[in-house]
Amino acid sequence: MENISHDRLLIIDFGSQVTQLIARRLRELNVYCEIHPYQNVTDQFLTDFAPRAVILSGGPASVLDAGSPRPPAGVFDLGVPILGVCYGQQVMMHMLGGTVEQGHGTAEFGRAYVTPSDTKTDLLSGWFNDGQEQVWMSHGDHVSAIAPGFSVYGTSPNAPFAIIADTTRNFFAVQFHPEVHHTPNGAKLYENFTRLAGFTGDWTMGAYREEAIRKIREQVGDQQVICGLSGGVDSSVAAVLIHEAIGDQLTCVFVDHGLLRQNEAEEVVEMFRDHYNMPLIHADERELFLGELDGQSDPETKRKIIGRLFIDVFDKHAKTVGGAKFLAQGTLYPDVIESVSFSGGPSVTIKSHHNVGGLPEKMGMKLVEPLRELFKDEVRALGRELGLPTSFIGRHPFPGPGLAIRCPGEITREKLDILRKADAVFIDQIRKHGLYDEIWQAFVAILPVRTVGVMGDSRTYDFACALRAVTSVDGMTADYYPFSHEFLGETATRIINEVKGINRVTYDITSKPPGTIEWD
Ligand code: XMP
Repeated sequence: MENISHDRLLIIDFGSQVTQLIARRLRELNVYCEIHPYQNVTDQFLTDFAPRAVILSGGPASVLDAGSPRPPAGVFDLGVPILGVCYGQQVMMHMLGGTVEQGHGTAEFGRAYVTPSDTKTDLLSGWFNDGQEQVWMSHGDHVSAIAPGFSVYGTSPNAPFAIIADTTRNFFAVQFHPEVHHTPNGAKLYENFTRLAGFTGDWTMGAYREEAIRKIREQVGDQQVICGLSGGVDSSVAAVLIHEAIGDQLTCVFVDHGLLRQNEAEEVVEMFRDHYNMPLIHADERELFLGELDGQSDPETKRKIIGRLFIDVFDKHAKTVGGAKFLAQGTLYPDVIESVSFSGGPSVTIKSHHNVGGLPEKMGMKLVEPLRELFKDEVRALGRELGLPTSFIGRHPFPGPGLAIRCPGEITREKLDILRKADAVFIDQIRKHGLYDEIWQAFVAILPVRTVGVMGDSRTYDFACALRAVTSVDGMTADYYPFSHEFLGETATRIINEVKGINRVTYDITSKPPGTIEWD
């Protein structure tokens, strides 16, 4: 959070499932914000963070319970606008002298309609044009008396205090969730709140790029940086940004573990070395990885071998970059958000990224993570801002262990070669039919089974494969893509005709959960 010169909005998180959506809505308004769990927000934190406005999120607790979450009382003395949402409203009322009561038939979940009162506030400009607004409620407790200084600005049948405000202090509170899709005009409310707090919406990708470059220069000075390049969007954008900041002080290491897709190594090396003129180590370690994977079929063992070798190989090549003190990673905001755990302290969820997790400690390096504040689609926008080719920015995610987890059972060079060819045909089909951007991820898995077939007059005994294509927002849940029968038939025919070694094609129609996206 240091060194951000933009006006900042602080979201104090009380554990709502949708707190991240508040951040999304604000980012869409070009307002810079950060989510911090309430446990971490002390008076000192508030002083250091110096927010221009604060939002108190929703959450599952009841303010009536002993020990339930609170913001520090000092938040109300900052002199900045505050918006309480759902639990945030209740905690605000509880602390400022109002009353909150338990459900008893007034619990409300789902769609509701709010109508305005006679008094007006800028928070609601552009609201109630049609007399009422649809909102999404999700609360057990409710406010039964508002705190001194507050007035009512909107009511719903079950929430007489659906929208309240103390316009002298610029304190606002709503019982519903304006951040969710089912409050169709909710973004307008956030826009009004941030405008009246003085945000001008100047947090653009261009501004972010300049600021990130300045911060990278400040952090790194004249030291060397290495970056593990996977060919994915995140590490690519991070590399291009850092290269723009410090030029040849950056060296990228691209490890070819023999588990890449067709032409992938060539494409990555060509783009970064030839197009961007970046110092790039192309570590051809195919023999090492495939040698150690030989005969292994247990998924966890395979992943462990790949993870261990990756760290060793990266370490080996990094040593050749004389005395690099910094390691760059494409860590994103959703990976670093601290989510609130009600059984203990804040639980920090950080994915081991780009196969270099564990490396910084081992190598005694500091991290450079210029994408830490961005969501995935913002990384794509930054990539566009930096001039990365659209085809590269829109690429489907590709897992670190690569084709190994698309080759259940034993991994052999023969199977990998077949898999690469089948995968290329499938992706070509998807692109030809204009479906690539509608799909989160698509690939072929080669199955550890040979089946009987007939081609021409001969019997065949070749591998079966499965096509996998899913839609998803974040990879956490997924649904299979509903290809037409014609598409599936045409693709199966092409794969069997064009790829020697496959004589049967199936389509995986499992959603996640209960399945996972990858096969292994
Ligand atoms: P699953 O198979 O768990 O995948 O449903 C969810 C998303 O994560 C990717 N994935 C990985 N990415 N290293 C990675 O970098 C891994 O070990 C790994 N396993 C799964 C997967 O491709 C999908 O996008």
